[in-house]
Amino acid sequence: MIDHDGLRRCVTLVDDEPFALDLLVRSARSFHFDCQTAVSAEEALELLERQPTPVVVTDLRMPGLGGVWLVQEIKRRWPHIAVIVVTTGPDDDALLQCMSAGVQHYFLKPVHIDEFHHALQTTWYHQMMRREHHRQRQHLESIVRKQTHRLQHTFFSAITSLVRTLEARDPYTSGHSRRVRNYAVRLAKYIGLDEHSQNRLRLAAKLHDIGKVGLAEGILNKPAKLSAGEYDQVKEHPVIGERILRPIVRNRVVLSAIRSHHERFDGGGYPDGLRGEEIPFLARMITVADCFDALTSTRAYRGPMSQDDALGMLHDGMATQFDPHLVPLFLRMMRETKTLARV
Ligand SMILES: [Fe+2]
Ligand SMILES: [Fe+2]
Repeated sequence: MIDHDGLRRCVTLVDDEPFALDLLVRSARSFHFDCQTAVSAEEALELLERQPTPVVVTDLRMPGLGGVWLVQEIKRRWPHIAVIVVTTGPDDDALLQCMSAGVQHYFLKPVHIDEFHHALQTTWYHQMMRREHHRQRQHLESIVRKQTHRLQHTFFSAITSLVRTLEARDPYTSGHSRRVRNYAVRLAKYIGLDEHSQNRLRLAAKLHDIGKVGLAEGILNKPAKLSAGEYDQVKEHPVIGERILRPIVRNRVVLSAIRSHHERFDGGGYPDGLRGEEIPFLARMITVADCFDALTSTRAYRGPMSQDDALGMLHDGMATQFDPHLVPLFLRMMRETKTLARV
């Protein structure tokens, strides 16, 4: 028998007394339930393992492990199965244990058909409601998941065009964010950083200079040394970047990597003057990638440095500007790639 919402109307009945079991079966069938029966707790558990039913009705006093054990096992293995307990006499201890295990109903023998009908129908109704709630929750969760996915997609498209806009203003930094992201992610893979952190690094590296959108055109691509005032403005870009992204990028690791990508290992960087391992790890990786790309790219005020010279500069900056553990790994990675390219 299938109920109108697709839930199979079936019940497991457990009683060691044949007469009582027969009465339960006949009553349940007259209420249009399919029945499976067992004469002990152990047998009932085997039946349920093969075919769980939404409702179980069990006697408490049975030879073997008994009804209380059965109730506890059912609730432990299948917490969503509803249990109704039938007992021969007042046994407060056993009933208390059943109630605290989560039994829905209990009544005393001899079984009164009306009482049994009421307990079965009420329990069945609760099961259907629970199932409906579960279905609705799953439906809502899937809607939220889809919307979140859509929002993320929109957000990343918007951010990507923001980065392009930023770089279009300064032809000398065109492709900088993409290259920094590529160097940083290559380094991450090289040192075996986990996938989750790699994704965070990818995003942070791509957006690390987003705070420069607020800088005046004249400062962004000035072909000469910046004045102290202009330099102060440039130094604000990690904080501005973090502020722009905070409402959309909820991830603190990503935000802190962006904020700290101009910190120096010796504490002489900005904006917070962090030193050593106080600087977030992803920020330390971006710093290395960022400087390497800046050195090997053409700028308004100078030509590009050769890769070997740039790697030499990174080596010289170990422990002052850069993480002394990361630089040797970056150098090795770049040199291995170069060797491979020659082969
Ligand atoms: Fe920067
Ligand atoms: Fe940069």
